[in-house]
Amino acid sequence: MPDTLVAIVTGGSQGIGAAICIELLKNGYRVCIADIQELKAIEFTNEQKSVYGEENITTICCDVSKESDYISLFEKTLKKFKRVDVLINNAGIILEENPRKCLEVNLLGTLIGCHTALKYMGKSKGGNGGTVINMSSSAAPSPL
Ligand SMILES: NC(=O)c1ccc[n+]([C@@H]2O[C@H](COP(=O)([O-])OP(=O)(O)OC[C@H]3O[C@@H](n4cnc5c(N)ncnc54)[C@H](O)[C@@H]3O)[C@@H](O)[C@H]2O)c1
Repeated sequence: MPDTLVAIVTGGSQGIGAAICIELLKNGYRVCIADIQELKAIEFTNEQKSVYGEENITTICCDVSKESDYISLFEKTLKKFKRVDVLINNAGIILEENPRKCLEVNLLGTLIGCHTALKYMGKSKGGNGGTVINMSSSAAPSPL
């Protein structure tokens, strides 16, 4: 069904990302679960395949802080599902002892995701357009 909408959810194998994947599947989307935890992602994907159908879910191991991983994520998702309509930049970490890693994943990863989505989905680049949702903290917009 080429008209079925397709979403990529980073950090989709547990927590909020997993809940988002299930809601998307319930609403008729095809979903690509992109996560750095490969085994966890495969396990979650297999569980959801049995409920929502093998053809509607896939998983791709991905480190969102690496541009090459993001490119590969979009290429593989397009090869599998023929389109990408939604990117949810949900992957995030809290590592108080490693602020650099936090920035690489939470900030740089989100920026790379936006740039890659623009490249593959952007109308200005010949794509069909779509939606990018960046996960944040409720504290993010608060004044100090
Ligand atoms: N839990 C909360 O109360 C809360 C509140 C505000 C915002 N958030 C944000 O929501 C998002 C999800 O939170 P959560 O509580 O479900 O987190 P979680 O730790 O349960 O899940 C995060 C997921 O991201 C994946 N991930 C981590 N680093 C990655 C990387 N480099 N590349 C790809 N995947 C990676 C993990 O493997 C995991 O599956 C995060 O961005 C978090 O900052 C969470």
